[in-house]
Amino acid sequence: AFTDTVAKAAGKLYFGSATDNPELPNAEYVAILDQNAYFGQITPGNSMKWDATEPEQGVFTFSGGQQIVSLAQANNQLIRGHNCVWYNQLPSWVEDGTFTVAELTEIIQTHCGTLVGNWKGQIYAWDIINEPFNDDGTWRSDVFFDTLGESFIPIALEAAAAADPNAKLYINDYNIESAGAKSAAMMELVQTLKANGTPIDGIGFESHFIVGEVPTDIQATMEAFVALGVEVAVTELDVRMTLPETAALLEQQQKDYQTVVSACNAVPGCVGVTIWDYTDLYSWIPGTFPGQGAACPWDANFVKKPAYDGIIAGFA
Ligand code: G3I
Repeated sequence: AFTDTVAKAAGKLYFGSATDNPELPNAEYVAILDQNAYFGQITPGNSMKWDATEPEQGVFTFSGGQQIVSLAQANNQLIRGHNCVWYNQLPSWVEDGTFTVAELTEIIQTHCGTLVGNWKGQIYAWDIINEPFNDDGTWRSDVFFDTLGESFIPIALEAAAAADPNAKLYINDYNIESAGAKSAAMMELVQTLKANGTPIDGIGFESHFIVGEVPTDIQATMEAFVALGVEVAVTELDVRMTLPETAALLEQQQKDYQTVVSACNAVPGCVGVTIWDYTDLYSWIPGTFPGQGAACPWDANFVKKPAYDGIIAGFA
């Protein structure tokens, strides 16, 4: 069975993967990524971020993002745009800048409007806001919040909606997949945006998990967001382990993938599941968490792991 085929048969819009431009010269990698029976959706892992798309103020470079958009279009795959406003991977002119309220408002409007407008009509959903909260549910201190307070959220969302009225506009974050201070803060934000008439269509559950530690209330948390009038999506799923991998860890990882996918499957407002690249060869985990890895459903030699069967079972 194929992952996107079973996802669609279950009524979801897609099963997808992140990818990144430096991976595309690898023909063995692309041969699997190209198969839309596996992946009905692609997310660029880096090439639509601010440092990549507006490295100097007013100078836009879309070539990296376009490479991935073109690949997805050639394969009839949906695209999730990632992302407009994030504290990380900012060009230094933004990160280290000192701006008035009026200046930064205009900078966000120009960035989001130009980025989203460049691919108008071609992107299923955009992570307009990425990771706005600390784990304790307080706002993250960065140039956006420190200058504008929480108004940077509607400023960005409204600019994106004007640039592409058909794209689904998301806020994306990690550690919001279970009940707690951070998901509560996100729910309060959704309610505020809805009450103010600010465009907001979806919440992304990044879902960077650890083997054996998938939250037991992930489905209930999805349902709680959907009840507020937004869709949800699993946007960056991976399940890491302390290396070396063992048969027991891979078996638990299979269950963990199944738990996440079956949660989305059970919630009509969960539109799809995206993994944060499909092969351990290109996972971000070992570079960020030394000694950990093996987080993806395909191993570094492009062989499917037990996790793959967990995904298939999750859509059953
Ligand atoms: O572009 C530079 C290159 O010029 C330089 O030579 C090279 C040397 O280190 O670094 C390159 O930048 C790297 C960049 O990816 C592009 O490849 C950074 O070091 C590296 O830290 C960066 O990692 C990305 C990470 O976001 C940054 O926070 C990962 O590839 C990407 O998968 C990851 O994705 C994030 C999502 O956007 C948001 N949610 C969490 C997720 C995982 O961290």
